[in-house]
Amino acid sequence: MLRTHTCGELRPAHIGQLVTLSGWVQTIRDKGGLVWIDLRDRYGLTQLIMQEGVTDPAVLAAARTLGREFVVQTSGQVIERQAKNDKIPTGHIEVRVAQLTVLNPAKLPPFLIDDETDGGDDLRMRYRYLDLRRNVVRHNLELRHRMAKATRDYLDGQRFIEVETPVLIKSTPEGARDFVVPSRMNPGQFYALPQSPQTFKQLLMVSGFDRYFQIVKCFRDEDLRADRQPEFTQIDCEMSFVTQEDILNTFEGLVKYLFKTIKGLEMSDFPRMTYADAMRLYGNDKPDLRFGMTFGELNALAQGKGFSVFDSAELVVGIAAPGCAEYTRKQIDELTEFVKRPQIGAKGLVYVQYKTDGTFKSSVDKFYSPEDLLQWAVQLNAQPGDLMLVLAGPAGATRKALSELRLEMGNRLGLRDKNVYKPLWVLDFPLVEWGEEESRWFAMHHPFTSPKPEDVPLLATDPGAVRANAYDLVLNGVEVGGGSIRIHNREVQAQMFRLLGFTDEEARYQFGFLLDAFEYGAPPHGGIAFGFDRLCSLFGGAETIRDFIAFPKNNSGRDVMIDSPSLINPKQLDELNIAVKPGVAQ
Ligand code: AMO
Repeated sequence: MLRTHTCGELRPAHIGQLVTLSGWVQTIRDKGGLVWIDLRDRYGLTQLIMQEGVTDPAVLAAARTLGREFVVQTSGQVIERQAKNDKIPTGHIEVRVAQLTVLNPAKLPPFLIDDETDGGDDLRMRYRYLDLRRNVVRHNLELRHRMAKATRDYLDGQRFIEVETPVLIKSTPEGARDFVVPSRMNPGQFYALPQSPQTFKQLLMVSGFDRYFQIVKCFRDEDLRADRQPEFTQIDCEMSFVTQEDILNTFEGLVKYLFKTIKGLEMSDFPRMTYADAMRLYGNDKPDLRFGMTFGELNALAQGKGFSVFDSAELVVGIAAPGCAEYTRKQIDELTEFVKRPQIGAKGLVYVQYKTDGTFKSSVDKFYSPEDLLQWAVQLNAQPGDLMLVLAGPAGATRKALSELRLEMGNRLGLRDKNVYKPLWVLDFPLVEWGEEESRWFAMHHPFTSPKPEDVPLLATDPGAVRANAYDLVLNGVEVGGGSIRIHNREVQAQMFRLLGFTDEEARYQFGFLLDAFEYGAPPHGGIAFGFDRLCSLFGGAETIRDFIAFPKNNSGRDVMIDSPSLINPKQLDELNIAVKPGVAQ
């Protein structure tokens, strides 16, 4: 080994020992007669000291040629430090350098390799290997490692076995867009990268594996956001002979175990809410329960009083922002601008200030008496001192807009503390939703999700009203997992494909293997998959999952470090039987 100890290891107990350390030069301080170097590796920092008259002049001269991030090896004696530093574990000792070898010089890094860096996002991504030297970034990946380890421990303890499923699979029309890979040996044909191992894990249940899991890369060609990457990792799980209740309990157990082992938190049982209630109370299927401000519908109270905007609206709905009655004109204008942004899309915002003396001041005083507004306050659970914010319009879009406003108010009021964790199971999702553009039904979760048995008769008459045996786990307003009890009967599966607009031939072409498998003794089964990157970022208290992925893509789906995606040469394209667009290849 090129070292006897790491840079985070030495303590006063080592004083007097001769040690060898290797690492990167973090800082050099040259104070005339004395030179100090902070030597860094993954484990910490150790101070090296050299002194004129004590240290070999050749070694001192060599030290003075070092730069930041040089890789060096040094040997010397551990001594007690004069000026102790209580902030770092090695702060009571230093190493008096006897030998110093440069293992590799380094160019000056393009940004500071420190907890607080001067490097912008782009620069740090281009030199991600340097960014990863920073403690903060490495700690995120260490957390990720511990989360994966704890997940394996828990699931192994529950008799799950990890099975790898293929990465080159088949393109399917449901879900997000696929990434595809051309096949050289099968001209004109393509593999697809899996959006999830869904069908394979179901086949493993048919094979009798009973309990499967996999920490697995999934690929989706969709628009990227802070919590979405084109390649991401799932904790993918499936169980046989279970009900929805069994799955919720098993995986609530997993998440509680992670909170306990990783964060030392005892979580109480997770609350549950139906999809219908989540939409009604929060306008959102992933409500952030760290704060209240639930929706109150005002149609009955606010319509028929001559205010045409409300009278013509399908839905009038509001929230009460606690303690905001004294918001200034400017603050209210900001909120109005917020809801009118194209991404939110509301036409306007009605406000009612419920003053602490019990009086009201609103943008609609002309139409509503104080008695009317008091009834609104009751409906919205508003107290004196609160600000009521009301939107009106088409039901779906208005709920969505108010949900955004609610989250914005949560942010403004500091109610979304990242150290507070509020999990929630959302249950009873609709089985299908109507796609206006395509004029057909789409599976809300995926086509393998089973309808609730009591809703099966509705499949033929009112598919939109059919509830699925599907559930999501939401943590602080983030969907961290989703799953369902599956269809295991060939006929029901075929019926589902028909509902989704597949002809029998298309269903056979796409999913014949699964339909066939269902004829060979498929057990009742169900499962769930967690977004592992999202779980890690929530546990790490960060906004973006990129911070928990060693080599992430940017928002345009590019890896700016290796500069990918990239052109490939015409010969490769030729071999793959892909026509070259003129002017595209070099
Ligand atoms: P679903 O599509 O809900 O279910 O995905 C499961 C979880 O994966 C996470 N996730 C993502 N994370 C980062 N980037 C993305 N682009 C991304 N897309 C999804 C989310 C989500 O809850 N096969 C089913 C699971 C099942 O039914 O068992 C599935 O993939 O946290």
